[in-house]
Amino acid sequence: MIKLKNVDYQIDQKVILQSINLNIEQGRTTVIMGKNGSGKSTLLKLLNHIIQPTSGLIQSYLKNPIPMLFQKPLILKNTVSYNYQILQKIKKFKINTSWFDQFKLSALEDQKMNSLSGGEKQKLFLARLMSFDQSTLFLDEPNQSLDLESEKLLAKLLLLEKKNKTIILTLHDFEMAKKIGDYFIYLENGKILLQENKQQFFDHFSS
Ligand SMILES: Nc1ncnc2c1ncn2[C@@H]1O[C@H](COP(=O)(O)OP(=O)(O)OP(=O)(O)O)[C@@H](O)[C@H]1O
Ligand SMILES: [Mg+2]
Repeated sequence: MIKLKNVDYQIDQKVILQSINLNIEQGRTTVIMGKNGSGKSTLLKLLNHIIQPTSGLIQSYLKNPIPMLFQKPLILKNTVSYNYQILQKIKKFKINTSWFDQFKLSALEDQKMNSLSGGEKQKLFLARLMSFDQSTLFLDEPNQSLDLESEKLLAKLLLLEKKNKTIILTLHDFEMAKKIGDYFIYLENGKILLQENKQQFFDHFSS
């Protein structure tokens, strides 16, 4: 479980997140939703210990940050295959190539990172993260820049992954959220407006 108790997060006196009380259960897929600037990416980084709360408490089964999918990843140098295989070299274990294969990234292997399209880059970052085989996934807008077909593939892959993983992700797309989510958090201006299971959550948005 990840438990947040009265968590506030500020930057230069600006309140970004306020009075966050939250439980995230292991084995569940939790979707964080809300408008632009509501604090989704900030909350995800807090949950993964990338940043620390200004006040309040975070108790988590994870003690340190783990690799995650960022909304604005650093631009990487060199080629696609270099960036993908570097993990294998550092970690010295056989990486899981299933997402790399499913997204057909081998066709781009020799291309320079900075020449990739937005969607191609996104697929590479997804494939890189999934190559680690982590049992917890933090994904910030995993479907950003993806075309319809790729987005469908992503949903299919996540539905398989969620069977034995804890997934915490941000999304704008209600359809995708409904498809893969079990538990939902809705942020508004840095505060939690809703935190509910699927049925309750979507009742608010129907009609
Ligand atoms: N370093 C910073 N300095 C000042 N303000 C910041 C900083 N980082 C984030 N913010 C502000 O905090 C608020 C929440 O940002 P955050 O990126 O968490 O929003 P978000 O819900 O992920 O939005 P989006 O849907 O656009 O991705 C925004 O108003 C943003 O401008
Ligand atoms: Mg964001």
